[in-house]
Amino acid sequence: MTAIIRPTTADDVAALQALVGAVALERRYLGATQPFTLQQTRDYLAHVEAGGGVALVAVSGERLVGWTDILPGPFEGLTHYGRLGMGVAADARGQGIGPALLQAALRLGFERFQRIELEVFASNTRAHRLYLRLGFVEEGRRRAARLIDGQADDILMMGMLREEWTKTQT
Ligand SMILES: CC(C)(COP(=O)(O)OP(=O)(O)OC[C@H]1O[C@@H](n2cnc3c(N)ncnc32)[C@H](O)[C@@H]1OP(=O)(O)O)[C@@H](O)C(=O)NCCC(=O)NCCS
Repeated sequence: MTAIIRPTTADDVAALQALVGAVALERRYLGATQPFTLQQTRDYLAHVEAGGGVALVAVSGERLVGWTDILPGPFEGLTHYGRLGMGVAADARGQGIGPALLQAALRLGFERFQRIELEVFASNTRAHRLYLRLGFVEEGRRRAARLIDGQADDILMMGMLREEWTKTQT
C-alpha cells in the first residue's frame, strides 16, 4: 500500500475520528479506549493548530490510513516542547506508513519545537522500536502505570531534542 502524507484539514475530521476511534477500541495502544466524538476531534485539531503544532494524515487512494499530531505543551515555559501521538489503521500496518508519518512530523515539528516527547506502553514493541529507530531516547519508565483487562503495563517516557534530530539528518 502506498500512502501520501499531507497536513490534516477540516475535511478529514470524520475519517480521522473514525480511525482514531477504531485504534482506541483495540485497547492496546492508545490511552483512550473509546472513540472521541466528532466535536472533540474538531476541538483537538483546532487546539493543535492554535498552538502552532503539527497534524498530518496518511492517505491511500481516498482512504485515511494514518495520523500523527504534535500538541504544544500547555503553559508558559512548556510551549517549547510538543507531545506526539500517532497511529496507523490495523490493516495498513507493517508497510512503512508509520515511519513515513513520523519522519514527516519530526521534520516539521523540529522547525517549531526544541523538544518532542511521547509516551508509549512498554508492551507496544512495534511503536517503541520505531521511536528508538528515529532517534527518541528513553527518559523514564512509569512502572505498572496502566492496568487494563487485568494486565499491568509500564509506560515509557521518550523524548528527543532538536539538536539530536539535526544530527540524525546530516
Ligand atoms: C506503531 C505504528 C504507528 C507503526 O507504524 P507501521 O506503519 O506499522 O510501521 P512499520 O510497518 O514500519 O513497523 C515499524 C517497525 O516495527 C517492526 N515490526 C513490525 N511488526 C512488529 C511486531 N509484531 N513486533 C515488533 N516489531 C514489529 C517493523 O519491522 C518495523 O521495524 P524496522 O523498521 O526496524 O524493521 C503502527 O503499528 C500503529 O499504528 N500501531 C497501533 C497504534 C500505536 O501503537 N500508536 C502509537 C502509540 S504510542
